[in-house]
Amino acid sequence: MPSYIGAIDQGTSSSRFLIFDENGKIVALHQIGFPQYYPHPGWIEHNPNELLDSVSECVDKCITKFLNDKTCSIKDIKAIGITNQRETFIAWDKNTGKPLHNAIVWSDTRTLDLVHHLTEQINHGADIFKKSCGLPISTYFSAVKLLWMINNVPAVRDAHNNDTLLVGTVDTWLIWNLTGGINGGLHITDVTNASRTMFMDLNTLEWSQTILDFFNVKKNCLPRICSSSEVYCHIKIRDSEIPIAGILGDQQAALVGQKCFKSGEAKNTYGTGCFMLFNTGTTPFFSKSGLLTTVGYKFGNNPPVYALEGSIAVAGSAIQWLRNNLGIIKESKDINDLAALTPDVGGVYFVTAFSGLYAPYWQHIARATLEATCFQTRAILEAMNSDSDYPLTYLKVDGGMTASDLCMQIQADILGIDVDRPAMRETTALGAAIAAGLAVGVWKLSDLDKVNSDGKDVFKPQVSRENAAQRYQLWQKAVERSFGALN
Ligand code: G3P
Repeated sequence: MPSYIGAIDQGTSSSRFLIFDENGKIVALHQIGFPQYYPHPGWIEHNPNELLDSVSECVDKCITKFLNDKTCSIKDIKAIGITNQRETFIAWDKNTGKPLHNAIVWSDTRTLDLVHHLTEQINHGADIFKKSCGLPISTYFSAVKLLWMINNVPAVRDAHNNDTLLVGTVDTWLIWNLTGGINGGLHITDVTNASRTMFMDLNTLEWSQTILDFFNVKKNCLPRICSSSEVYCHIKIRDSEIPIAGILGDQQAALVGQKCFKSGEAKNTYGTGCFMLFNTGTTPFFSKSGLLTTVGYKFGNNPPVYALEGSIAVAGSAIQWLRNNLGIIKESKDINDLAALTPDVGGVYFVTAFSGLYAPYWQHIARATLEATCFQTRAILEAMNSDSDYPLTYLKVDGGMTASDLCMQIQADILGIDVDRPAMRETTALGAAIAAGLAVGVWKLSDLDKVNSDGKDVFKPQVSRENAAQRYQLWQKAVERSFGALN
């Protein structure tokens, strides 16, 4: 009897549900988008119920597609893993189950003033808790988002005071609702998602009372922290009870999906943002170059594996901007052909924040958009190499932008190392499926070599190192100039 594993992938721009076979091949997939809300400049919100509905609809439609193949039965789905946009934070009332505010999305910058206030109020600056949670005080992580809600949303403040508040990242919200909500829903998260809140101590893998006290947040509103791979609960789908057995933040899921299980292996995922994670083994490693320390994964009772992370806030979203705002491409995938019309960027450098450029040479802007992410990836790779004894000799890649051959060739040229792209690039969802499959015995770690191993593209550097260095320097100059313009 074949076994299948499902994966819920709740991302920043869309939700999807995928079903994989034992070789990591996708047998069914359904994906839908959901509204993004921008109530003020710099604010980005999702409606928690719309996230939940989008996931439920994806599961339902995908299962229907799966069952269209008459040889498949729902009982063959042995487990489901969940992966999600990280840091995005949700607050709800445990008695009504209703969200008390929209989800504040990871890239939302409304807390900029609060961050300045917090870092000025303490003399140690933003890195005061870095040795404990691996992260600086920043608009990016959940703790400051929650503090903003408690300070600014009376319903959240009252629920916090009255001990009726529940909070969590998107995995937590989904599982609580899928397991009954106000009728006994499970309030849990995994170590990778917890490691993005700022509240978790990386050494104990528990909520840090010191950090909670600093933010004035009560521990009782936070979920219980679990491993990334274990049977947490069962959910009813059609006539079957299916275990939820894997939870991973999406970037950590891609690390697992790319099978970066050895210390020194790294992956780069080009999604809405772009995130490079470098496996550093079973003890947390603290960067001298400003990178984040995070939990990579923890399979059941095995020790946690840590990672260094470099994050780029704008990657695929810049392509969406070319599509929606500049209108120079109809679909995101068109950027490849437009950028390929020119062999170079013609002096155009894109530093995420440009407006009012009316150059007629759209192909240069298209190419510069791809190059922007590739240059930032080089900056991160250089930071990782300077932290590590062994420079990376190749980079595993995945995510939407990797569909562009041109972008991947530019990436290899700019980095000067091989860029390896798997044939099946849904590695984030595959990572969640692997975590779930390991927990229920569909796979053992030693079986994973055969998973998603059919065919990969290797992009080799094709330009001289001098050419790459010169282009990189020009981009750095553009970054300096745009900072000058902003300040
Ligand atoms: O940290 C934010 C990250 O998890 C979002 O990922 O793929 O939605 O850009 P993505």
